[in-house]
Amino acid sequence: MSFFISFEGIEGSGKTTQIKLLASRLESLGYDVLITREPGGCPIADQIRRILLDPDNDNLDPKAELLLYAAARAQHVAEIILPALEQNRIVLCDRYCDATLAYQGYARGLDLQLVQQLNILAAGMCRPHLTLLLDMQPEHGIERARDRNAANQGPDEGRFEQETLAFHNKVRQGYLKLAEEEPRRIKIVDADGTLEEIAMRIWRIASNVFKPQGGM
Ligand code: TMP
Repeated sequence: MSFFISFEGIEGSGKTTQIKLLASRLESLGYDVLITREPGGCPIADQIRRILLDPDNDNLDPKAELLLYAAARAQHVAEIILPALEQNRIVLCDRYCDATLAYQGYARGLDLQLVQQLNILAAGMCRPHLTLLLDMQPEHGIERARDRNAANQGPDEGRFEQETLAFHNKVRQGYLKLAEEEPRRIKIVDADGTLEEIAMRIWRIASNVFKPQGGM
């Protein structure tokens, strides 16, 4: 069985940890799981990621930013996501098309229809079956993201953490609006609580889809 789940949420909402926890759980049930992320997920898209998240690029034009996200996505879908789904794998993706609507559309103020068209150009019919929106107050999330970035050994990816609280509030409201528009696909998960509590909330939703495989 192939299945595509995207994880969304503001900075520091704990997506990356929860993706790993869900992946282990699914693997223990016998599923073949691929974890990937956007922007990035393959070498060309990772190069684009470095441009997008470099804090020195604070003058990146919003339209250029939008096109770079779309370019990274087109490559990632063609090279990684579609082949994995064709091989009957479960794909867990840290951010996807809804992030572009929330960040470049709702928060930056670019035309939502234009953003949607670029999402279609980049992703085609490759749409998540389920999207888990980890929702929390931006004040909590940003603090967590800044701590993480300060401890990070790799390249500085803090360009979005420099944004104002108002920006992150717009991102959050954008995500909530998207969830309201597509309640069957986008499920809101309260991201305040312990890791185990949040994992349990996610499993309550995911367990409707996944049953033990191959006699396990
Ligand atoms: P993350 O890997 O920490 O989630 O960082 C990715 C950043 O890129 C995050 O700040 C959200 C932003 N982003 C967009 O603005 N638009 C997009 O389409 C995607 C995928 C991410």
